[in-house]
Amino acid sequence: MVGSIIPSSRFTIRKMLAPVDWDRCEVFVEYGPGVGTFCQPVLDRLRRDGTLIVIDTNPLYIDYLRKHFRDSRFHAVHGSAADVVEIVKAHGHDHADYVLSGLPFSTLPDGVGPAIAQATHEVIRPGGAFLVYQFSARARDFMAKHFRRIDSGFELWNVLPCQLFWGWKDADD
Ligand SMILES: C[S@@+](CC[C@H](N)C(=O)[O-])C[C@H]1O[C@@H](n2cnc3c(N)ncnc32)[C@H](O)[C@@H]1O
Repeated sequence: MVGSIIPSSRFTIRKMLAPVDWDRCEVFVEYGPGVGTFCQPVLDRLRRDGTLIVIDTNPLYIDYLRKHFRDSRFHAVHGSAADVVEIVKAHGHDHADYVLSGLPFSTLPDGVGPAIAQATHEVIRPGGAFLVYQFSARARDFMAKHFRRIDSGFELWNVLPCQLFWGWKDADD
C-alpha cells in the first residue's frame, strides 16, 4: 500500500509542479502525502487564500502532518483518495483545481485504483489536472480511462527513476 519509503527528490517535485497555474489554484489536493515531502513546496507556491487538502489512509502519517504543518491553509484528512469528492465537499468546495498523487496504483487492492481515477476526474474542474508520479508507467492506464489528454515526463534524479504524468481535464471531458 505504501509503494516506496523513499521520499521524492527535489527534482521530481519541481518538475511535477511546474505546469500548475498557481494564480488559478484555489484548492489543491494530494493523495498519499506520507511524511509530507510535497506539502511544503505546494504551500510555498499556493495562494494565501488557497487550500491544501492531503488524504492518507495511514493515521500515523496524518497525526505527524497535523503536528508538523501549522498553516491555516493545510488540512490533513485520514481517509481514502476514493472518497475525494465527499472530502472536498466537506471542506466547503465543489471542485479541486489540481490533484497530486504518489499512490502505488498498480499495487492497490482490486478496484481501488479505478475508483480513485474516476472520483478524481469527477472532482477536478475543467482546465484543472491530475498530477501523478510513479515508478511504474501503469498509472497512466488508470488515468487514460478518464483523461483524454495526458502529458508525460521522466525524472532520472530520483532514488528510483520516476515516471510523471499530467492528465488534463478539458471543458468537454
Ligand atoms: C509512496 S507513499 C508516498 C510518498 C510521498 N508522497 C513522497 O513523495 O515521498 C504512498 C502513500 O499512499 C498512502 N495510501 C495508500 N493507499 C491510499 C489511499 N487509498 N488513499 C490515500 N492514501 C493512500 C500510503 O499510506 C502512503 O503514505
